[in-house]
Amino acid sequence: MILLNPGPVNVSPRVTRALSRGDLCHREPEFSDLLDGVRRKLVAAFAPRGDWEAVPITGSGTLALEAAVSSSVTQGRQMLVVLNGVYGERILEMATVHGIPTVEVRCDWTERPDPAKVAEAIRRHPAVEVVAMVHHETTTGLVNPVREIGEVVRAAGRRLLVDSISGLGGDPIDLGDGSVSICVGVANKCIQGLPGIGFVLATRAELERMGAIAPRSVYMNLPRHHEAHRRRTVPFTAAVQVLYALDEALDELLEETVDGRIRRYRAAAERLRRGFEDLGLRLLLPPASRSNSITSLAMPRGATYAALHDRLKQDGFVVYEGQGRLAAEIFRVANMGALSTDDFDRFLESLRRALGGDAA
Ligand SMILES: Cc1ncc(COP(=O)(O)O)c(C=O)c1O
Repeated sequence: MILLNPGPVNVSPRVTRALSRGDLCHREPEFSDLLDGVRRKLVAAFAPRGDWEAVPITGSGTLALEAAVSSSVTQGRQMLVVLNGVYGERILEMATVHGIPTVEVRCDWTERPDPAKVAEAIRRHPAVEVVAMVHHETTTGLVNPVREIGEVVRAAGRRLLVDSISGLGGDPIDLGDGSVSICVGVANKCIQGLPGIGFVLATRAELERMGAIAPRSVYMNLPRHHEAHRRRTVPFTAAVQVLYALDEALDELLEETVDGRIRRYRAAAERLRRGFEDLGLRLLLPPASRSNSITSLAMPRGATYAALHDRLKQDGFVVYEGQGRLAAEIFRVANMGALSTDDFDRFLESLRRALGGDAA
């Protein structure tokens, strides 16, 4: 099955083979070496400049993100959330559930937020300590202006927390220019590992600051994981085999290079988009805000997502439905994972047959 949903993705045979490296107790020195290796490779791939640390945590991306959100705001301070999709809404929900007062800067789901509005909201709310945003809004496939927002956040003396769960490895993000302090990712999207591990990248200074904040959770207390990692261990049982797969996936990524992976995804997205336009399909976003790994397409008149999905699945392709208020209007095609140009060409042919020729 070719997975054209935005994770979990098709992985290479090499990553699948890593699952069978063998049984291992997470309290043994071999596990400490594995953990150290994964942490080192995450920093080498995504934050080679500056004083960054990686904190992998067993669980899906949501868990790592909730650990970062719930561990990063001092009691009595606020989190400002920038929203233009389902995943921004989810950050807001996390902060609210953990009793963190919030400020919202909203914009349309097909628009990039204006950094000046973020600067103005910080000015009006002096208690804001952390600004949180999504790098690549998976809801639509829109890339948000992390650097530009990071600059106004830094100029205001605050810190930026970024959900790059579907961004890291697919679209560029610079963790060395001082605009981002905390960045969250996951193994099973553009990194091409398997589901079950998320991670937080944070500067050492940020991790120290978080260490002084009273915990809001036992498992999702980020400093607790980091402090254990510094002692080459974990606070709780880790998904050992998923970590094996991530270790191998990171080796592959470092061999391909992050820039090389981004170029491969961009070329795949461009190939697909040319094919979609040839079929008469309408893309939701303007070219300037499209990511390299997801394309949102208007549902053609007369077609239903369920029928289209099932027809494509018969040919071995899994696409993804729209989310939230766009659920009925769009469908999404991702190009994350260990896929070839041949896979994309065969998919376009299957889509052409499913749409019965012209989609307009
Ligand atoms: C931007 C973003 N944030 C958070 C998540 C949640 O990740 P998970 O499903 O691994 O918990 C996703 C998943 O698609 C995502 O794309």
